[in-house]
Amino acid sequence: MENLFRLMQKSDYESVYSLWMKCKNMGFNNVDDSEKGISKYLERNSKTCFVCIRNEKVVGVILSGHDGRRGFIHHLAVDPDFRRHGIATELLRQALNALKKEEISKVGLFVFAYNSDGNAFWEKHGFTLRTDINYRNKALVDLIRQDT
Ligand SMILES: CC(C)(COP(=O)(O)OP(=O)(O)OC[C@H]1O[C@@H](n2cnc3c(N)ncnc32)[C@H](O)[C@@H]1OP(=O)(O)O)[C@@H](O)C(=O)NCCC(=O)NCCS
Repeated sequence: MENLFRLMQKSDYESVYSLWMKCKNMGFNNVDDSEKGISKYLERNSKTCFVCIRNEKVVGVILSGHDGRRGFIHHLAVDPDFRRHGIATELLRQALNALKKEEISKVGLFVFAYNSDGNAFWEKHGFTLRTDINYRNKALVDLIRQDT
């Protein structure tokens, strides 16, 4: 069975959301991760978000985008049945190439400190841990968090 990698489309939302809900140690919320929120993200970042399709099923996804300066990666996930076969590595390769084409020089991401699989993956791919920064944020609307 072959893996097909392609740009994520708005119509992939339901399959992608089901995949996310199968993956532990990720953080979602009811606004940004709703169909409307993800559609908005895809409109702004139409060339930098990818899915992996296997047997007509979405088995991997990466959202990436930028603000004109920094690239950012969100919600990389691979179906638990298809892990450790390089799917996330290929999704990341495609996302980083796409960001480079948009002349982005650096990319970051959030990963829960307790997510050992995720941290092992990012470490392997050279994403260094910044311990010199306090990340601060503020919600502008009411958000309901959903941590998997
Ligand atoms: C993290 C995740 C995306 C990795 O997907 P994957 O397709 O299995 O990753 P790859 O096969 O491309 O792994 C590449 C390398 O990363 C490292 N790695 C990946 N998963 C690992 C794990 N569970 N433990 C240790 N190292 C791991 C290994 O070095 C691996 O190479 P190897 O298999 O030759 O040893 C997947 O485990 C996942 O979906 N987890 C849940 C969601 C998540 O945590 N997302 C990331 C946070 S944003």
